[in-house]
Amino acid sequence: MIKIVVLSDLHIVPAGALSHGLDTTERLETGIDFVNSRHADADLIVLAGDLADHGETAAYLRLQETISRFLVSPVLTLGNHDNSDRFVAQFGAERVNQQTGKIDSVIDTNGHRVIVLDTSVPGQPGGRLQEAQLQWLKQSLEAAEGRPVIIIMHHNLTPFGVPTDSIILENGEAFAEIARSCGSLRHVIGGHVHMSVSGSMMGVPFCTIAGGHYNIEPRLGKPTPTHGTEVVPRREGPGQLAVVLSDEKATVVHMENYIDRHLVMAPDLFQK
Ligand SMILES: [Fe+2]
Repeated sequence: MIKIVVLSDLHIVPAGALSHGLDTTERLETGIDFVNSRHADADLIVLAGDLADHGETAAYLRLQETISRFLVSPVLTLGNHDNSDRFVAQFGAERVNQQTGKIDSVIDTNGHRVIVLDTSVPGQPGGRLQEAQLQWLKQSLEAAEGRPVIIIMHHNLTPFGVPTDSIILENGEAFAEIARSCGSLRHVIGGHVHMSVSGSMMGVPFCTIAGGHYNIEPRLGKPTPTHGTEVVPRREGPGQLAVVLSDEKATVVHMENYIDRHLVMAPDLFQK
């Protein structure tokens, strides 16, 4: 059995600043307290990109200080809001995968293989996996040798029928082609869209978590000429992470809200 906690879209800003009116560091601290109290037994914690809101050095410094409070040291990768050079300058060149040149990792633990992919492309909001990354992914999946595999990356691999469809993973089909060749792939977990979605593409099962930043209210009408340009309502919550529980037979992904404005129902409402 393995337990993995995935957080995404932290959007940390330098001290004294807010992101769209939100104190994202305070939100992350709430998430860390939640994880440390409820999931101190996690085998792995992954922060799946958009670590900083604008990729400033001061934001990475603040992130580094803040996440030092996790009881389990997290594995990090990048999203479209990150700046790879400044991230590496702050967190160290050892975070760079020698084969791909990106912030890609593979973690073998508890009978599982977890692959963390960096889908960021400098200067653009959409994501892409470089050719070297696709090759490395293929090799990493083959080397799993039948062990359950979980992939974590920032961008979503297929359109969701929402305005952010223009900034998804550009080569999601190439990714899915490789991913589905692995007979033991269990799930692909992402962030980026700031909403909770699950589905499959070309037989590859995936989900996205709402993450730590604002939440986007999806408008799921059929595409119109203004699709992708309209302003949709944004909500200040939930702050949401994923808890993955997986063993030899099954993989389950729980979406847990560490910032939640819903009321807790009184226990006596459930008495017979
Ligand atoms: Fe984000």
